[in-house]
Amino acid sequence: MYRRILIGYDGSGQGRKAFETALGLAAQHGAELYVLAVAHPPEIGDDVETEAVIENSRHHHQQMLDELKPPAAAKGVTARFEVAVGHPAEQIIYHADRHEVDVIVVGDRGRSKFTRWLLGSVSKQVVHYAARAVMVVR
Ligand SMILES: Nc1ncnc2c1ncn2[C@@H]1O[C@H](COP(=O)(O)OP(=O)(O)OP(=O)(O)O)[C@@H](O)[C@H]1O
Ligand SMILES: [Mg+2]
Repeated sequence: MYRRILIGYDGSGQGRKAFETALGLAAQHGAELYVLAVAHPPEIGDDVETEAVIENSRHHHQQMLDELKPPAAAKGVTARFEVAVGHPAEQIIYHADRHEVDVIVVGDRGRSKFTRWLLGSVSKQVVHYAARAVMVVR
C-alpha cells in the first residue's frame, strides 16, 4: 500500500511518462503525490548574474510543474508541487526522505541527447543511493 509517492520530473518525454505512472499509482492507492523538479545552479563563481540565472531556472521549472496540475486534479489526486535548487539526484533523495515517501518514481531517461546508457545518471544515482523503493519507468 502506497501512502506517499514522490516523482522527479524534468519536463522530458520519459519524465512525463513516469509522471503518468506515478499519478495512476497515486489514484489507485489514494496516495499523496509529491512532484519535484530540480533546477541546477550554475557553477559556483563570483558571477553577479548567478542569482538571476537561478531565479530564471526556478521560474522555468515552476511552469513545467504548472502543466501537471490539471491532469493531477482530473484524477482527484492530492498533489504537492515543489521546485528545488541543487543536484537533482541528491535533492530527489533528500525530499523523499523528508516526506517519508513509500516509493520514488523516475523515468529511465531524461532531457539528455546522449543515450549511450540504458539509464540516465540521475535515475542511476537515485537507484544507487536512495534507502527506499525506487520505480524506474521505461
Ligand atoms: N532536474 C531534475 N529534476 C527532477 N527529476 C529529474 C531531473 N533530472 C532527471 N530527473 C528524473 O530522472 C529521470 C532520468 O533522467 P536522467 O537525467 O537520469 O537522464 P538523461 O537526462 O537522459 O541523462 P543525463 O542527465 O545523465 O545526461 C527523468 O525521467 C526524471 O524522472
Ligand atoms: Mg538529465
